[in-house]
Amino acid sequence: MSSVVRSIVCQEFAPLDRLVLEEKPAPDLFPGCVRIDVTACGVNFVDALFVQGKYQIKPPVPFVPGMEVVGRVSEIAADVADSGVTIGQRVFANVGLGGFSSQAMVAAKRITPLPDTLSDGQAATFMQSYLTAWFALVERARVESGRWLLVLGAGSGVGLAAVDVGRALGLRVIAVASTEEKRRFATERGAEATIDSTLSADEIKELAKSLSGGAIDYLYDPVGGEVGETCLRALGDDGQYLVIGFVAGIPKLPANQVLLRNRRITGVDWGGWAGKNPERNNAMLAEVMKLIARGELRPVEPVAYPLERAADALRDLEDRKVAGKIALVP
Ligand SMILES: NC(=O)c1ccc[n+]([C@@H]2O[C@H](COP(=O)([O-])OP(=O)(O)OC[C@H]3O[C@@H](n4cnc5c(N)ncnc54)[C@H](OP(=O)(O)O)[C@@H]3O)[C@@H](O)[C@H]2O)c1
Repeated sequence: MSSVVRSIVCQEFAPLDRLVLEEKPAPDLFPGCVRIDVTACGVNFVDALFVQGKYQIKPPVPFVPGMEVVGRVSEIAADVADSGVTIGQRVFANVGLGGFSSQAMVAAKRITPLPDTLSDGQAATFMQSYLTAWFALVERARVESGRWLLVLGAGSGVGLAAVDVGRALGLRVIAVASTEEKRRFATERGAEATIDSTLSADEIKELAKSLSGGAIDYLYDPVGGEVGETCLRALGDDGQYLVIGFVAGIPKLPANQVLLRNRRITGVDWGGWAGKNPERNNAMLAEVMKLIARGELRPVEPVAYPLERAADALRDLEDRKVAGKIALVP
């Protein structure tokens, strides 16, 4: 364990280049907690929204962004010495905030041992994406296998995870992404067909309809904007639009198009649900990890950025430059 902690700090809601790297003495360990020497921290689109004050929820400043960490246990509080956690154990944890750091202090009951099948980078980047996808498709949409799923933003983050989860659930997946590399990632995870997201929204909708033989059954939409609004029209009878995110803006979904064909719009707020249903979320995590261990789900190996390049990592996500995921390495 190092006596100095290096962290990326958001001192005020501001553009990404105002993030600062701070070095401080390691704080004493709180009761009930373990210290993790972080080896990788997942980077998500939402982190960029948080630090710029653009997210629905605004944490009090200053704060250290970053939700998902992986590392090795370096210290265990005396009152949880018999919790089964061991020094040197490889673990991951959802810390909410505080992940962009060389150390994390986490309640012993909130850490999860890692299977050998996941690298540190994969383990630090799968949780938000895969649990969102699983929650959307299994809990919210209750999908039926054999049906058609159109995934927008399919080359990275929650979209790529939805391709993987959708295929594992027996869905026929059409993936929409902007580059050959992103489309290849989606194909490798089982997308049956891909569409170039640089086409017009209308062209994407028409291609989705023809590739699926007339209409799609589920639309998984982390993108929103014009393409989300237009692709709603590709849904067939009883088709479901899953509202995941708004990287291209909040779509204005026309109610007449929802009425037609008895379509449905389903909200997906995994974070909010997980906070209210920790036991069910843990069960979902266990199910996803079981499928990963069996090789039935295959989280992508992320691109590694050094911790001090956190702002570049967030900017590259915003600029759609990243195929797959990014992990910060302290
Ligand atoms: N509902 C939930 O519970 C939940 C949970 C987690 C995340 N989210 C939300 O899901 C969204 C995606 O998060 P993520 O971490 O998956 O992001 P990400 O890894 O950056 O992926 C987003 C993808 O969207 C595509 N895109 C299309 N238009 C874009 C635009 N104008 N700007 C940026 N990207 C654009 C890009 O793919 P192409 O370049 O290939 O088109 C990009 O790779 C965010 O809004 C996030 O807040 C929601």
